[in-house]
Amino acid sequence: MPGEHDAIENLLAESRTFPPPPEFTAEANVSDPSVYDEAAEDLERFWEREASQFHWYREWDSVLHWEPPVAQWFLNGTTNITHNCLDRHVESGGGEKVAFHWEGEPGDTRTITYSALLRDVCKAANVLKRLGIETGDRVAIYMPMIPEIIVAMLACARIGAPHTVVFGGFSADALVDRIHDCGAKLIITADGGWRRGQVTDLKGAADQAFDDAPTVDMKLVVKRTGHDIAWDDDQDIWWHEAMDAADEQCDPVEVDSEHMLYLLYTSGTTGKPKGIKHTTGGYMVGTASTHRWVFDIKPEDVYWCAADVGWVTGHSYIVYGPLLNHTTSVMYEGTPDFPDKDRWWDIIERYGVSILYCAPTAIRMFMKWGDEYPGSRDLSSLRLLGTVGEPINPEAWMWYRQVIGGDRCPIVDTWWQTETGTIMISPLPGLTTTKPGSATFPLPGVDADVVDDTGESVPLGHGGYLVLRKPWPAMLRGIYGDDERYYETYWSRFPGCYFAGDGAKRDEEGYLWLLGRVDDVMNVSGHRISTTEVESALVEHDAVAEAAVVGRLDAVTGQAVAAFVVLRSGVDGTDAMLDELRSHVAERIGPFAKPKSIVFTPDLPKTRSGKIMRRLLRDISEDRQLGDVTTLANADIVAEISDKATTSPGED
Ligand code: PRX
Repeated sequence: MPGEHDAIENLLAESRTFPPPPEFTAEANVSDPSVYDEAAEDLERFWEREASQFHWYREWDSVLHWEPPVAQWFLNGTTNITHNCLDRHVESGGGEKVAFHWEGEPGDTRTITYSALLRDVCKAANVLKRLGIETGDRVAIYMPMIPEIIVAMLACARIGAPHTVVFGGFSADALVDRIHDCGAKLIITADGGWRRGQVTDLKGAADQAFDDAPTVDMKLVVKRTGHDIAWDDDQDIWWHEAMDAADEQCDPVEVDSEHMLYLLYTSGTTGKPKGIKHTTGGYMVGTASTHRWVFDIKPEDVYWCAADVGWVTGHSYIVYGPLLNHTTSVMYEGTPDFPDKDRWWDIIERYGVSILYCAPTAIRMFMKWGDEYPGSRDLSSLRLLGTVGEPINPEAWMWYRQVIGGDRCPIVDTWWQTETGTIMISPLPGLTTTKPGSATFPLPGVDADVVDDTGESVPLGHGGYLVLRKPWPAMLRGIYGDDERYYETYWSRFPGCYFAGDGAKRDEEGYLWLLGRVDDVMNVSGHRISTTEVESALVEHDAVAEAAVVGRLDAVTGQAVAAFVVLRSGVDGTDAMLDELRSHVAERIGPFAKPKSIVFTPDLPKTRSGKIMRRLLRDISEDRQLGDVTTLANADIVAEISDKATTSPGED
């Protein structure tokens, strides 16, 4: 039973379980549960063994130096991550293996082998050197989902110049802020990219940013779309011309294990974006190991992580993890509905994709579009499915399993963050019995706990704050230029523990259930309710594809539950449906969680990475002036929801 004083209550129970199929376990990369004990007994030995699979110029003197909140891994070891991603495989005869099957949105394709990628990375590294970029200099990358974004990142890593990739959907202002913060010397961009049949004007934004960014000397520009762009010979260089003139040999620069590999900015809820700092050795070991365990990567797999390279998911599980593991990946430039809503399933059929990793927001969108799109394609090559980025509602999980995975593929729901660098909580697909909606257990070597307001572990069956108690190799090394903020943000709430900002509960069997950001927790008549659980109860109803719930001020109950619901295609948002959904929540959770208002909407406001912006929905619900909506992926929907929220009949 939920306790009266729980930081967050445990409301929903889930009884469905899915053990790994025996034939999957028989072949799995990890099938012996003793791996958890080994890691717990001797963390350093555990990671040392993982690290020894890589090429190091100089071996480390010690595995870990931990002085909270500062960790150093593989001290005084030297390596180069691109040597481990590329040269190592080519030298051992794996150069002809495909690294990427790339597909552009208009339908153009490229097949890139490990040898070809190595050659391009060497040339690009020589271009960077010719442009005066030295080890330690920061380089901003602002590009669409084309192979050159990966070449650019690896070229930076080859010479030890930390990259900072700015997602191509961000504005010129966002690009400038990030460049200012890290003092980047070069922007690598493209004329544009293809998105839903339209050209995105990256070069225009890069030009604007350049004017406001005195640290930047030049822009290196990939020709992708070929549309007309402004050009200034004093500041612009064509990538293809520079590459044509560049030498194909470029020795990797030997860098210290703690050398900065990249910065990636994450916005957080308030304040200016934080430049999350990742270094080389620990990140290399962490991304490769977690990728091999969680995705059960085999030499013959065709793996598709459908994130954008501009997010940490792309950094760790499109670029570094897969290349370190000599994986064949699929990479796709455009949107899932171009030219039609079956594009992903068409890609999976044509390339024989065996592992798909994507976000719950995509899954809910596919649910809304209807089963006929995946149903018209042969998805039998799939053997494993993954999700990341948000809690996945149990019904969305079931849909993913049944409609996409043909009821045969295990699902790995992976919890992690830009800051953690690697997956922290996830099933191991050959070992873990899964439950729909639970990320299950911490990976080997990860010490996660759920604590109450005082930092005490909560008993099984209760909810609270998710913390990590021990360091891990790919953990962030700080916020660029702001040690104080690093300490304050992550280490001050529960001394000695990393506090991720997420709520979680542990069920009676110890399974972890992520409950969303603690800033989103609602307080209704003294009940601390996570938005996730009410949303999951709504999505459980057959008529619902997606739901967002927020707490809005209420004179009687403190906060009242306000719900925004996207119905599945073909379902009408009638008054009867409103009543039905309300009763459904009351039945599943309890009358106190019943939404006071429900607004039907065709879509929900989302960030560019697909997370629901509950803050905006709270503003709408409480009739507040709306803040900046320019960072939304779908800004138009806000006006529509605002109108509906004020005229909605759905008030209790
Ligand atoms: O709230 C958690 C949610 O996404 C946050 C991290 O976001 P970001 O740094 O953009 O990285 C996303 C990709 C790793 C977390 O604090 N989150 C991520 N994965 C899950 C999740 N929430 C629930 N379940 C997940 N599997």
